[in-house]
Amino acid sequence: MTIQEEIKKLKEEKQAVILAHYYVRPEVQEIADYIGDSFYLSKIAAKLENPIIVYCGVSFMGESGCLLSPDKKVLMPDKTADCPMAHMVLKEEVEAARKNYEDLAVVCYINSTAEIKSWSDVSVTSANAVKIVKNLPNKNILFIPDKNLGRHVAEQIPEKNVMLVNGYCPIHEKILAEEIRELKAIHPEAEILVHPECSEEVNAMADYIGSTSGIIQYASESEKKEWIIATEVGVRYELEKRNPDNHFYFPKTEPVCTDMKLITLEKILHVLKTEENQAEVAAETADAAKRTLDKMLELAK
Ligand code: 13P
Ligand code: SF4
Repeated sequence: MTIQEEIKKLKEEKQAVILAHYYVRPEVQEIADYIGDSFYLSKIAAKLENPIIVYCGVSFMGESGCLLSPDKKVLMPDKTADCPMAHMVLKEEVEAARKNYEDLAVVCYINSTAEIKSWSDVSVTSANAVKIVKNLPNKNILFIPDKNLGRHVAEQIPEKNVMLVNGYCPIHEKILAEEIRELKAIHPEAEILVHPECSEEVNAMADYIGSTSGIIQYASESEKKEWIIATEVGVRYELEKRNPDNHFYFPKTEPVCTDMKLITLEKILHVLKTEENQAEVAAETADAAKRTLDKMLELAK
């Protein structure tokens, strides 16, 4: 039996379901029941009936899975897979802003720990951040932890006072405007699709800015055939699958999220067999953290 067949057999026996983010390895995306961006995966996690969810992603995703599906076992193929940005804000920064602005809304990117979510009022993903912040009644917004997504949101909603902290995704920040300019010089017909976690300079060059799903959808619905892609290379698999006659050019430094790539078929099989590596959230933060995710799902409707 191949490892894929073993996974399928065990999955069926245990009525388990496999969720995967677009940044995981192609062979993991291939065996997943649901693949998507962070927003799609959280909506799916909230309504699944299966007793076991294998979450192929980093730890904040497993925590969100636990919070949204509290009666399920959420298994993480690699518990050390973590998002560095998910930790990049201090409680003191949130407390100081709350003292300074009476009407403050603390908006946290879903790429944050459950503890950070518990200090916040609402979660957002890159797919729904602009819509949710725009519709909040508050004028003063503290956006944590991603300064790049926060800046993108602020640019779309100039009527709000959006304050930022110094968090960032090390993988997207490393994509240089210079690399994108070089690619555009070689492929002048190509449109530039950018994830909002990229720097201000790269965002300024974009024809379209959106989440991983947004980028895939934009390219798939267009008549154009050439694309410069400023996000993690994992999206190449779905882009090429949906658009086999298109050409996708990535920065030559190949942005790779090494944490997402820790998820392998062997580790998926292991957790399915042993039911080890259960994601968990500390009891003292769970209720408040869950409220921010529930509010996101409600406001994003
Ligand atoms: P999206 O999937 O929401 O676009 O987010 C990208 C990301 O960095 C996930 O960790
Ligand atoms: Fe975190 Fe960046 Fe990896 Fe996404 S790509 S999980 S934001 S480090």
